[in-house]
Amino acid sequence: MTKTTSQHADRTNKTYDPKQHHHTISPICLFSPKLSVYLLATCVTLFILFQIQSLQTPPPPPLPSSPSPPPCNSWSFMHQWQKVLINKSSCTQELKSMAAKLRQAVTFLPLKDLRYAQTAQQGHTWFMSTMYDTHEEGEVQYQHFPSEASKGRLLCIKGHDIRDGAWNSYALAWPETLPDNASLMEGLTFVSYNHYNYDNIWHGLSAMVPFVAWHIKNECPVPTRWILYHWGELRTKMGPWLRSLMEATFSGSPYIEGFDHGDGDDGGPACFEEAVVMRHNEGGMSRERRIEVYDLMRCKARMACKVSMEGRVAEVDGGGLPVIGMTMFMRTGARSFRNESAVVGIFERECRKVAGCRLMVAYSNNLTFCEQVKLMSSTDILVSPHGAQLTNMFFMDRNSSVMEFFPKGWLKLAGVGQYVYHWIASWSGMRHQGAWRDPNGDHCPYPDDDRRCMSIYKSGKIGYNETYFAEWARNVLNEVKMRKMEEASGKTRAATFSGCGCG
Ligand SMILES: *[C@@H]1O[C@H](CO)[C@@H](O)[C@H](O)[C@H]1NC(C)=O
Ligand SMILES: *[C@@H]1O[C@H](CO)[C@@H](O)[C@H](O)[C@H]1NC(C)=O
Ligand SMILES: *[C@@H]1O[C@H](CO)[C@@H](O)[C@H](O)[C@H]1NC(C)=O
Ligand SMILES: *[C@@H]1O[C@H](CO)[C@@H](O)[C@H](O)[C@H]1NC(C)=O
Ligand SMILES: *[C@@H]1O[C@H](CO)[C@@H](O)[C@H](O)[C@H]1NC(C)=O
Ligand SMILES: *[C@@H]1O[C@H](CO)[C@@H](O)[C@H](O)[C@H]1NC(C)=O
Repeated sequence: MTKTTSQHADRTNKTYDPKQHHHTISPICLFSPKLSVYLLATCVTLFILFQIQSLQTPPPPPLPSSPSPPPCNSWSFMHQWQKVLINKSSCTQELKSMAAKLRQAVTFLPLKDLRYAQTAQQGHTWFMSTMYDTHEEGEVQYQHFPSEASKGRLLCIKGHDIRDGAWNSYALAWPETLPDNASLMEGLTFVSYNHYNYDNIWHGLSAMVPFVAWHIKNECPVPTRWILYHWGELRTKMGPWLRSLMEATFSGSPYIEGFDHGDGDDGGPACFEEAVVMRHNEGGMSRERRIEVYDLMRCKARMACKVSMEGRVAEVDGGGLPVIGMTMFMRTGARSFRNESAVVGIFERECRKVAGCRLMVAYSNNLTFCEQVKLMSSTDILVSPHGAQLTNMFFMDRNSSVMEFFPKGWLKLAGVGQYVYHWIASWSGMRHQGAWRDPNGDHCPYPDDDRRCMSIYKSGKIGYNETYFAEWARNVLNEVKMRKMEEASGKTRAATFSGCGCG
């Protein structure tokens, strides 16, 4: 330290001449006029600041035992800055070495923070755990890089591990000093964190909703690529339904980043020109914001599938009454109706009693995405067992009705997850018109509320109660008929969200 200082002092002695001070600076440091001006300004500012500081706090006397500290007053500081200004090559060199240090200082932390392994589901996310979200009241929670919050730094990820999220890592870096071997990925990158998966249409959709909200809020930018994480592990696929929905919503097939560099080569970190990270699904979003998201996805999906945009308000039957579409969306296997023809028979009879009612029976297992969108677009009452196929409800016109069915045992054992279709109905502006819970079903050898019974009830089939189903169907049909007649008269129908190419 002392040695360096004396060297600097020597050099300064040779070149520093107080009288020529103002004349020597500019001609010598010519290599970049902008930089020279900037450095000069900085120098002057610092000079003034140090003058003020040295007036207020005189430097403490050096401790007797310690080696004499480098001179630390405003003059020697001035000298150092002048040295930087005057010696062009040492100026460049110091900037270079500073940049190299910043490059080295980029610190990667595990994407999955094991300290929060026990609380990962309670909102204390283990994904990028050192980062805070931007969150305004009622809006989506997100992180945006670069931004004021990131101090202009970009997000960098070393993240191609598909088995253990603790081996994937992230860091922030200034664009001028990206870490060694980093590749800069241009355009907008969506980074998704999902605690469940991207195959189940309900869980997949939950992870996508915040991106759509962000898209609406920011004048509809379209992502160049998606990066999908589940527990911090890289995923390279979305389920086909979700993929189709995103393709429709963002008007183009989503590119899902795989960080493919061939065997054994990790290719260095990837840094993103612009990145948006979501890890709280729709958490924090107001109902209005959610409704906008579902409105946009409905509209875009109908456009992509070439379904009429007007919905079916104006559709009337031969007698001039509004058509009421009642759709039974059936499952096969787990949570299917034990006696399907009996259940269909009940709803068929009730439908026949209402002028304009049209019953459709479809299976969720063999419809394409667009077939589902088309079917829901002509549905006013969706009759369906609890299951992922119900997620399609938001493709119906707003204010449409949902009737849900559960097998035995779910109420006590299935937890809050059983209410997801109540939630999605509320978020997308539908009317959940109740659920029927089968009192009968497979026998469980343990007491009713024993958790072990869930493995038996989970895949149970659903029976029926003719009296109950008939009365329920009658009531819902009646209500929907009244609503559709009011809507057809043009009194109550509100506008849906328009924007981002819709409406
Ligand atoms: C400028 O700095 C370089 C590297 O530190 C040194 O080699 C050179 O002698 C210096 N030039 C002057 C004029 O001090
Ligand atoms: C950068 O890549 C080269 C060639 O693959 C490798 O030898 C070097 O160690 C890498 N540097 C860092 C800091 O990873
Ligand atoms: C299903 O219900 C119908 C009508 O109630 C009945 O005739 C039929 O036997 C039932 N089928 C089975 C397999 O229970
Ligand atoms: C769809 O699946 C259901 C139940 O498996 C079956 O009855 C029906 O025939 C299938 N429809 C088509 C068009 O394959
Ligand atoms: C069927 O539903 C009716 C009407 O809610 C109810 O009174 C009756 O007890 C139910 N029957 C059975 C067997 O649960
Ligand atoms: C849905 O129904 C409510 C209450 O009748 C009404 O105020 C609203 O305008 C309806 N929304 C749409 C999109 O038709």
